[in-house]
Formats: sequence, C-alpha cells, structure tokens
Amino acid sequence: MNYRDPMRITGNNIEATINGLKVSYNDRGPDHAPVIIFIHGFPLDKSMWDGQMAALEGTYRVIAYDIRGHGASEAGTAVFSITLFEHDLLCLMETLCVQRATLCGLSMGGYIALHAIEHHSERFDALILSDTQCIADTYEVKSRRINLMDAILEDGVDAYAASSMGHLFAAASLVHKPQVVEQVRAVIAANSSESLCNTLFAIAERRVSCGKLLEIGVPTLILVGAEDSITPPVAARLMHLKIRGSILAEISAAGHLPNLENPTEFNGHLRSFVERFLAPPTLATL
Ligand code: MLT
Repeated sequence: MNYRDPMRITGNNIEATINGLKVSYNDRGPDHAPVIIFIHGFPLDKSMWDGQMAALEGTYRVIAYDIRGHGASEAGTAVFSITLFEHDLLCLMETLCVQRATLCGLSMGGYIALHAIEHHSERFDALILSDTQCIADTYEVKSRRINLMDAILEDGVDAYAASSMGHLFAAASLVHKPQVVEQVRAVIAANSSESLCNTLFAIAERRVSCGKLLEIGVPTLILVGAEDSITPPVAARLMHLKIRGSILAEISAAGHLPNLENPTEFNGHLRSFVERFLAPPTLATL
C-alpha cells in the first residue's frame, strides 16, 4: 500500500535529485492509486511511454523517468551499469515515497526491471516485460556493440540515429508510421556520444538473469513485437516458460517498439492485465 505523499508534485518533466544527479520524470494520476513505473529502452527517453501513460492515468498513478544520461536526466561521472540503473530506480521510488509499484520496462528497461525484482521483490506488485530478454550478450553481440561504439565516435550520433531505424521498426512501420519513426530518430539523435557509448557498455556487461525467473512470484505480462529482430519473440517465449503463470502476447505489425508501432493492441493487453491484477483502492481501503 502506498500512502499519500503531501509533497507529491504531478505533471511532466519534473526534476528530482537522485543519487546526486538531476533526473527528469513525469508523474500523473490519482494519489492513492496503484503505481506503475515505466522504464524506457536504449537509447530513448520517457516520452516513448506517453501513449501508455495517457491510457492508464485515469485509474493508476503512472510514472516515467529518463534513465541517467538519457532525455533530460544528467549523466554524472559514474561508470554506467544495469546495477547502477537499478539503484537509481530504487532511489527514485524512495524520493517519490513509492513503497510498492508495478514495473513496465521495454528492452533495456526490462533488464533494469528484472534486476530490480530479483533484488527487491517485496517492492513490486507486478511486472510488464516488453521486447526484452533474460540472456546476456554472447561474445559476438558484445563485439557488435564495440563496433557500434567505434562507429558512433567516428561517424557521429546523427548517422547512428538514422541507421538504427531499420533495426528498431517493423518494415511496415517504416512505411506507414513516418511521424513515429521521425520522433524516435530525433530522440536518439539528441543523445551525446558519451552517453550512448557508456550505455552500450553497460548493456554489453549485463549478466544473465534467466536462472532467477523461476523465483518471480508476481503477475507478469510479457509482450513482444511479432517482428522484433533485436529481442525476438523466441526470447519472450523463453521467459514465459520460466516465469510461473506469466501471460505472453505477440503484438502484430510491430518490431522492437510495439507500444509505438501498434499502440491499440499493446494498450489493450496492458489494460486487461492491470485491470485484472491491480485493483484500484476502494473507499474502504483509502
Ligand atoms: C534497447 O532497446 O533497450 C536495446 O535494444 C537493448 C539491447 O540492445 O540489448
């Protein structure tokens, strides 16, 4: 149960100091409602969740934040790691007086969510894992990431942003959703090369979490774009096999960013999951 924080600030692009860094977050929805925290993928920012925040804020307290070095959050000087990002998430929860929450993470956001639930299971009510995986990088993938860092440093962030589109989106989205594609390209292009490389390094160094999935005891929804080539449906199916009682859904006509490519289908699954497992408070429980 979360208690009402009299100091709560609601709205968008709010600034808080977390672990000594200025972090930007959005916090909307009713005070007493169950909390859902959205964690973006690499190298995006909290704006990727605008459609999901809007869909749920009538009933739930919805929070999305920029991971350090992304969006409007400062990067600081520490070496990035998924463990550091997990620590930032827990510090954000402390700062916002959020005792318990549901996590919804896409890709890198899912890596952070899996770390957080492994170490602090008592703080989480449910889990939504989108286009993510529990395996660590193979040496081949690590070496691809290192080549990518070289390319970013050599050719610049704009070239990297432009070349990412073909990997992130399903072929049909590239043709039929030019506005979404351009929004994502612009968000990626706004990153600094240092933050991109630091985060690529953190992702490459993450450890496998598949062995811990059997211990997850909260309702879990696993979503994946049917045409995701970065974290493909097979990765989602592997997690589904290991997380007891988990629900798996493939989102049609979508690649790695199904919440943006097919929001109707994505939000439909999201809504039925939270309505089933996250009861809003009644007058008696307030
Ligand atoms: C992401 O979307 O966060 C990244 O694609 C994750 C990854 O490359 O492993």
